[in-house]
Amino acid sequence: MEDNLLPDYDFEKHWNNAYQKTPIDSLGWYEEDPIPSLELISACNLSKDSLIFNAGVGAATLIEILLNKGYSNIVVNDISSAALTELKNNLGEHNNSHVQFILDDLTNPIALLKLKNVDLWHDRAVLHFFTTETQQKAYFDLIKKVLKPNGYVILAEFNLEGAKKCSGLDIVNYNEEMLQERLGTDFKLLKSFNYTYTQPSGGLREYVYTLFQRTA
Ligand SMILES: C[S@@+](CC[C@H](N)C(=O)[O-])C[C@H]1O[C@@H](n2cnc3c(N)ncnc32)[C@H](O)[C@@H]1O
Repeated sequence: MEDNLLPDYDFEKHWNNAYQKTPIDSLGWYEEDPIPSLELISACNLSKDSLIFNAGVGAATLIEILLNKGYSNIVVNDISSAALTELKNNLGEHNNSHVQFILDDLTNPIALLKLKNVDLWHDRAVLHFFTTETQQKAYFDLIKKVLKPNGYVILAEFNLEGAKKCSGLDIVNYNEEMLQERLGTDFKLLKSFNYTYTQPSGGLREYVYTLFQRTA
């Protein structure tokens, strides 16, 4: 899509509506057991106080699982206040002390610009919604701004065989080469695999999971 054809769409409203009208465990991206993300996170061998940033977290179960594993320095973000409120409520007070919530737009960041020294950037099913060059550039610029030297990036997006839409929105399909090209030569691909996710409705969604490390 050309930059001058930016979708005339209120994404914040769209995502708030999605989380308000559907119970979390019926959403088309709900994952009770985020096995592939946990596999890649474990491959990073992070210390428990490493700064883990989850971009476009929604109300993902991954956060409670990471807290239960002892990770204590987690920052989560979403454009939807409804998603963040739901996640906060699900985690409860105790767990909240280890999680910082940042309501902001990854493609037009303001609060997120204060973030620094991120050890791991994790994104499942978020980047693929950014269909314009301007949105994608802002997203990758943010990764490069906030990630530590030697920091890790996990990107899990619909693969080239995958669906062309999600939540009624157009998406961009990826493979590992396309993600490598966007990150640039300062990032090394450590692992990648395709993964078929089964939606609560039984539908299948084809993802590519990638783990990169910053080398410079
Ligand atoms: C398909 S859901 C995936 C949620 C979560 N990552 C997961 O795996 O369960 C996409 C998420 O991206 C969030 N999102 C979409 N556009 C965003 C943006 N520009 N900035 C931040 N979050 C965004 C949505 O609110 C939603 O929670």
